[in-house]
Amino acid sequence: MLGKIKIANILVDSIPFIQEFRGSTIVIKYGGSAQENLKLRENFALDIILLYMLGIRPIIVHGGGKKISQMLESLNIESRFIDGIRVTSKEAMKIVEMVLNGDINRELTFFFGYHGVKAVGISGKDAGLLKAKPKDFDTFGYTGEITDVNIEILNKLLDDGFVPIVAPIASGDSIEHPGFNINADSVACEIAKAINANKVIFLTDIKGVLDANGELLSTITSKDAKKYKDSGVITGGMMPKIDACVSCVENGVKKVHIIDGRILHAILLELFTTKGIGTQIFYEKLEKE
Ligand SMILES: Nc1ncnc2c1ncn2[C@@H]1O[C@H](COP(=O)(O)OP(=O)(O)OP(=O)(O)O)[C@@H](O)[C@H]1O
Ligand SMILES: [Mg+2]
Repeated sequence: MLGKIKIANILVDSIPFIQEFRGSTIVIKYGGSAQENLKLRENFALDIILLYMLGIRPIIVHGGGKKISQMLESLNIESRFIDGIRVTSKEAMKIVEMVLNGDINRELTFFFGYHGVKAVGISGKDAGLLKAKPKDFDTFGYTGEITDVNIEILNKLLDDGFVPIVAPIASGDSIEHPGFNINADSVACEIAKAINANKVIFLTDIKGVLDANGELLSTITSKDAKKYKDSGVITGGMMPKIDACVSCVENGVKKVHIIDGRILHAILLELFTTKGIGTQIFYEKLEKE
């Protein structure tokens, strides 16, 4: 009996959080590094299903860095990163799209359907969702930068009760063009800004943003975040993530979170407990701005 009362108490304790988030649009970036095993991936889908059932409008953007690197390695195609951003050759671009769109996106979409919720997997190529240009073709090849987001398809899906699951790929400007590989953190951020999301949550493979001593920073401002990046405390894949976070909070998204997606139910722990887990980032200007 005591156990059952505890469950009822947990449900009642979540009322203020449900009141806060009901009806809001939340963008969730599901990092490739947090997709390690089947159980984790299925439970990620279950957490989003719960949010959806509670009246939240979730948009998922997924990465796939680890799987892409594994696939490229098995095909003897080089994997290279500069400041956390993948360099994408024409050959690699085909594989990037196959892994993101054909594998990761399909599986996630299936999990939702399997558990009785309608999800639609799309890429930035669908319905004109993302337009892009080369980041710097000579250096990064087919790695792109978003120039425009058309949220029409996302709004239609959400309004009709579908959960959109977005693979971070954009179209090129000719029939021969293989398309652009876009860092998923920036896709999540640009979609969040365009759709006026309340929050963006980044699930990754680390506790959150760590300081120079490896300690978790629970709350930082956009000003701190820029300083940590400029001073070299933030490196690799955390660099584009921090750029995305800063750009979000500077452009109307109230709060962003970076949390450890390797923890089961990480999203629920972040949203439905007072202290949360991971790092939350708020807006604050640098003096010189
Ligand atoms: N100061 C820092 N705090 C936390 N992580 C950091 C820091 N500096 C660098 N990192 C690295 O950033 C990595 C997270 O970025 P990464 O791009 O690897 O994952 P992801 O974005 O979740 O996955 P994907 O790119 O596949 O979507 C961490 O695993 C960590 O090694
Ligand atoms: Mg990354």
